[in-house]
Amino acid sequence: MNILVTGGAGFIGSHTLVELYKAGHTAVVVDNLSNSNPTALRRVAEIIGVAEIPFYKTDIRDREGLERVFAEHKLDACIHFAGLKAVGESVEKPWEYYENNIGGTLTLVDVMRRHGCKNIIFSSSATVYGDPVEIPITEMCPKGQCTNPYGWTKSMLEQVLMDIQKADREWNVVLLRYFNPVGAHPSGRIGENPNGIPNNLMPYITQVAVGKRKELGVFGNDYPTPDGTGVRDYIHVVDLAAAHVAALKRFLKPENGEYGTATEPSAANIHSTSNPHLSIYNIGTGHGYSVLDMVKAFVRVNAVDVPYSIKPRRAGDIATCYCNPAKAKAELGWEARYDIDDMVRDSWNWQKNNPEGYPEV
Ligand code: NAD
Ligand code: WQD
Repeated sequence: MNILVTGGAGFIGSHTLVELYKAGHTAVVVDNLSNSNPTALRRVAEIIGVAEIPFYKTDIRDREGLERVFAEHKLDACIHFAGLKAVGESVEKPWEYYENNIGGTLTLVDVMRRHGCKNIIFSSSATVYGDPVEIPITEMCPKGQCTNPYGWTKSMLEQVLMDIQKADREWNVVLLRYFNPVGAHPSGRIGENPNGIPNNLMPYITQVAVGKRKELGVFGNDYPTPDGTGVRDYIHVVDLAAAHVAALKRFLKPENGEYGTATEPSAANIHSTSNPHLSIYNIGTGHGYSVLDMVKAFVRVNAVDVPYSIKPRRAGDIATCYCNPAKAKAELGWEARYDIDDMVRDSWNWQKNNPEGYPEV
């Protein structure tokens, strides 16, 4: 398939491009580079051995810009990564988050349907479960209260896409709820490139290890977890990328090989597997690791020091979050292949080879 990849220059998008091309697909990237660097796309091209990836420096809120992309390419589906993702910043700038993430997606989806492209994979997040009512979390777990506007944009956009699919059954919608993506491509050429002080655990650890930051603050050691620190389902970004390739099969109609031809959904419960045109998957490993598990694995595998000290809990954090990824395995044939040692090794390989991230352009 030829896939529109919005946000393709970003962390998860760039890794997904590699897996798409490896699987025989092609892609067109739309990214406004608000949180990324075009060097990532050049390195993706180098990894997969093509001259370049078609790229438009375009904002998904720019209708005319998107029209041009669709006029110039025949696109079968969209993998929609573009969005702002900093939890803390979203609390400071709610309007900007709602406008960018929700406004942008509404424009994107409108242009897609005008061009008859009605297949979309959306980057959702475990954050939509709020403080989950069950652990491990299955897709049947009810959505919860988000603690920040970023989380609400994901929760609301899931609803928007579900409603659009319900009203027009030519749409095929796949919602992938990512758990905690870490790691980097094993080549060390592409990886996570946060601006400023990292919010997330793994880039903070790697920046301490490389000497850019003095020590890691561990946010709380009094949670009801085995060692008192928060437990999460970390997933290698290459595994996460592969899940998108696996999810594309939801757009294939087996009888005639056409994309996105609708049949009648049989039940209202969108969490069940009964609507073949609307599916939700947890994308994680199913294993929970604590903050200290991650630090210790990083130190052991990479033989580097990561000084840390215990700090107060961070507002909005929950104790434990990991999933049951069985549905993705059963329906997509996808499961995570990389373990915690691979995650910490590849995160460090990226950081030590690119201590300043991508070069300024
Ligand atoms: P990222 O910031 O590296 O990538 C997002 C990309 O979207 C960036 O390249 C940015 O420049 C681009 N972008 C933002 N707004 C845009 C707009 N209006 N028009 C065009 N491009 C725009 O983030 P990521 O970690 O690769 O995340 C990708 C997606 O996955 C996001 O939607 C994010 O919310 C979601 N997600 C991420 C995580 C995580 O922990 N990284 C977890 C769950 C979900
Ligand atoms: C992981 C653990 C922290 C930093 C966030 C978003 C979520 C999703 C993924 C997009 C927690 C602890 C962290 C530090 C620490 N993003 N920690 N010191 O909070 O699970 O999820 O990213 O959708 O929406 O909320 O990830 O990496 O920030 O934290 O002790 O400097 O590490 O308290 O237990 P989180 P994280």
